[in-house]
Amino acid sequence: MKKIIYSKFGGPEVLQIADLPIPAVRETNVLIKVKAVSINPLDWKIRNGEMKLMSGSKFPRGIGIDFSGIVEQTGSSVTQYQKGNEVFGILNVFKGEALAEYIVATEKEIAIKPQNISFEQAAAIPVVGSAALQIFNTLVEVKKGSEILINGASGGIGMFATQIAKMKGAIVTTVAGDSGIKAVKDWGADFVVNYRNEDVLNGNKQYDVVIDLSGKMPYTKAKKIMKRSSAYVHTAPGPKEILSSFFINLFSNKKYKLLMLKPAPEYLTALSGYAENGMAIVASKVYPFHSFKKAYTEVPDGKFIGKAVITIDGLV
Ligand SMILES: NC(=O)c1ccc[n+]([C@@H]2O[C@H](COP(=O)([O-])OP(=O)(O)OC[C@H]3O[C@@H](n4cnc5c(N)ncnc54)[C@H](OP(=O)(O)O)[C@@H]3O)[C@@H](O)[C@H]2O)c1
Repeated sequence: MKKIIYSKFGGPEVLQIADLPIPAVRETNVLIKVKAVSINPLDWKIRNGEMKLMSGSKFPRGIGIDFSGIVEQTGSSVTQYQKGNEVFGILNVFKGEALAEYIVATEKEIAIKPQNISFEQAAAIPVVGSAALQIFNTLVEVKKGSEILINGASGGIGMFATQIAKMKGAIVTTVAGDSGIKAVKDWGADFVVNYRNEDVLNGNKQYDVVIDLSGKMPYTKAKKIMKRSSAYVHTAPGPKEILSSFFINLFSNKKYKLLMLKPAPEYLTALSGYAENGMAIVASKVYPFHSFKKAYTEVPDGKFIGKAVITIDGLV
């Protein structure tokens, strides 16, 4: 089978196609014929070597964390799935190797794909949808009337965070660029700031919750627009943010929260329900498998809505 691998850290040029055996199916495994894989910032941060502490430096390694596909075979102890089930799921964040014709996953890593969405849409859900749910379930409290700012709302996490915050009754202000304005309005944003011609930090509104998805609004800046008792979420924490958040949280009522994604089967189930109930799931860019280098070159430049996905159809 074909699989994308790399043997040293670097840019998209280190990615190559390998011909490898279909993975062996252990007792607890589900073998999945992959249909689509979405692209996450985590993919290129790991590939660039920016996350060595967490990812380790073992090579060769694969790329791709979330996927959709069809169950091909199940291990002897698998009870919830059978051949032919359409599924979607999330592999170990730091060992993702979903960009392949076949992968093995455990039952906890997958859920049945909602029937009303495509394989491309399903592959767009797991990482960013789980991240958004984890933010609202474990990091911040958002209720009816809460004022929330989502900075970088037209991308993956923003797509889910905007819609989930609206479902909770929050008043949602989103920051997006020219290309994202229409999408964030479609997802329910009450107010939209275009970062190209306005700096949300210069506004006089104060928020209960600020979520930065752009990596461009650190806590030190965000606190200016946070209410006296409020919370900020940073989504790309390193040692510096971990240390600062620890001390800030000891002394300030403007809490500094860090997202460290812990995928959970309940998140996949909840996200599946949202999709079935009509939540917008936008995979605005779909690349064919053979364009994997182009995909990993273009996507980090942004300016696409929701998620970008690589489809495995038509591979061979
Ligand atoms: N810690 C964890 O466990 C974890 C898990 C998942 C994701 N993450 C991280 O979370 C972050 C967001 O993930 P994502 O998948 O949502 O990324 P994404 O899809 O790339 O979205 C980022 C958004 O930021 C916007 N942006 C760029 N410059 C901006 C600016 N100056 N002001 C406001 N917005 C701006 C982009 O808009 P344009 O398209 O206009 O550029 C884009 O919509 C990433 O850093 C990712 O690595 C962390």
